[in-house]
Amino acid sequence: MTTFVLATANPHKTEEIRAVLSELGVTLLARPDDVPEVEENEDTLEGNALAKARALVDATRHAAIADDTGLFVDALGGRPGVYSARYAGEHATYDENVTRLLAELSEVGDDRRGAEFRTVICVAYPSGRWRSVQGILTGRITRERRGIHGFGYDPVFEPLEAGGRTLAEMTPPEKNANSHRARALRALVEELRTSS
Ligand code: IMP
Repeated sequence: MTTFVLATANPHKTEEIRAVLSELGVTLLARPDDVPEVEENEDTLEGNALAKARALVDATRHAAIADDTGLFVDALGGRPGVYSARYAGEHATYDENVTRLLAELSEVGDDRRGAEFRTVICVAYPSGRWRSVQGILTGRITRERRGIHGFGYDPVFEPLEAGGRTLAEMTPPEKNANSHRARALRALVEELRTSS
């Protein structure tokens, strides 16, 4: 049986990953407290996810799973993308990032507000082998915040197939069933099934 260490320290993500991977009969270990966080210095989601996974492999000698997510906005040429967490500044809050996004898009028409969330998940092994998978959620950026659930850009992101609701207007189970992270996790399950 394979043991994987999870790079995320976020309890919501850990639960989501655990729920999906439990069917594979793998053992998942929480990130050890004494392993320092890796700086996200790469300019791609895959680069960041791989750096985080490799750091954990080096520290634990177990296979490791790490993810990285970004919001790619068409009218901004794909920004904030890999820099989504620090769009409005190094230690920006979710709210500050959303305020900046709405301001930058204030002159952008309704037909040009397309965007997508992308999640990349990387698995790295002590042998040096690694794989990455991706999940994408396509939608548009609203003109104002709507909804109380979720986090980050959820109040201003309307998935195409959500009947006009933002991610923050969905219950957490509804969002998690089909989110970019859920899609990447399903791809990961496929990857682990076929590669083991
Ligand atoms: P991370 O790689 O998961 O830490 O995500 C980077 C940034 O993307 C976060 O700081 C959030 O601003 C944003 N983000 C990631 N996932 C989501 C999501 O599911 N909804 C809204 N924003 C998200």
